[in-house]
Amino acid sequence: MIAFHFRSALAFAALPAMAIVAPAAAQSAKRGLAIAQKNCASCHAITRTDKSRMRNALPLRQLSARYRLEQLEEAFAEGVMVTHKDQPMPAFEMTPASIADLLAYIRSISPRR
Ligand code: HEC
Repeated sequence: MIAFHFRSALAFAALPAMAIVAPAAAQSAKRGLAIAQKNCASCHAITRTDKSRMRNALPLRQLSARYRLEQLEEAFAEGVMVTHKDQPMPAFEMTPASIADLLAYIRSISPRR
């Protein structure tokens, strides 16, 4: 009887949680876009179609073709510095939340493979 109640409680709890997942991801990607506009756009293309202002800087939408997003997450956590050998990076506080937002945005503009 206890197990039954536990399971039905879970089922009810899961419904509203599922309903908010999609909008939450969209909000996260939106914050990621703001981060990219502020910190990356001076060099990297940051939308699905724009061109990078700096020749060597890969458009962010192409990053997922070269890296797994989990690899990027690690690199960002260690500081994007590691991937910008001689480029001065603008101060960008890479909190786990801001990294998640940036990756959500990059995922949202990356071609599906
Ligand atoms: C001052 C210009 C500049 C800014 C600002 C900048 N980048 Fe870069 N980035 C570059 C250049 C140039 C390269 C390629 C050469 C290199 O690796 O140093 C690069 C490379 C990278 C790479 C490695 C991709 C590859 O070519 O393998 C990643 C990932 C990356 N940038 C992410 C970002 C993100 C995310 C931001 C914003 C938070 C950002 N960069 C901001 C100039 C910049």
